[in-house]
Amino acid sequence: MSTSINFDLATGAMNDLFQYDAFLVSKDGAGNPNVMTIGWGCVGVMWSRPVFMVAVRTSRHTRECLDAHDCFTVCIPGDDSFRKALALCGTKSGRDLDKFEAAGLITAPAHRVDVPVIAGCKTYYECRVLSATLMDAEGAAPEILAQYYEKPGSGGLHILYFGEILDCYEKTAEKQG
Ligand SMILES: Cc1cc2nc3c(=O)[nH]c(=O)nc-3n(C[C@H](O)[C@H](O)[C@H](O)COP(=O)(O)O)c2cc1C
Repeated sequence: MSTSINFDLATGAMNDLFQYDAFLVSKDGAGNPNVMTIGWGCVGVMWSRPVFMVAVRTSRHTRECLDAHDCFTVCIPGDDSFRKALALCGTKSGRDLDKFEAAGLITAPAHRVDVPVIAGCKTYYECRVLSATLMDAEGAAPEILAQYYEKPGSGGLHILYFGEILDCYEKTAEKQG
């Protein structure tokens, strides 16, 4: 694989994702950005490209955004400073309110995609969707189905969006949150 992406940086931030969660930013069909909290995801290689796979349940507004506009950014804080904003963006839907405003999040233009990033985070990914796959419940282990999908209000199955990482970088600028 030949890529200009810093793979050590791209994979190294997975520890921060695991510990502190992250923002997934997308855009709806009318061009309005939306942000939701993610706790899951992974960086790897698919189709000879560096990819970030995000798992978005069918019920999310973000799902509609990703289906309408094929780019997204992932912004990983890497510390606790966005705890309140992540809680809001992980419990409210962009169908009902502007979460950027409600959480006091400041956006900045991305380098390679026309979806913004959240200022003040540590690690950024800019991605274009290569593939969207609804997970196959029949192929899932029974305990996974029972824990994550069969309870009322679980939010539906996950769609696995594989985004080619077009850019990945770190910023140590001022924090907000
Ligand atoms: C810590 C945390 C992690 C989350 N991770 C995910 C995730 O990986 N995938 C997902 O579909 N929802 C996840 N959620 C739930 C969504 O962020 C939440 O349903 C959100 O309100 C969806 O917003 P939207 O309707 O604007 O897309 C998470 C929530 C929290 C609090």
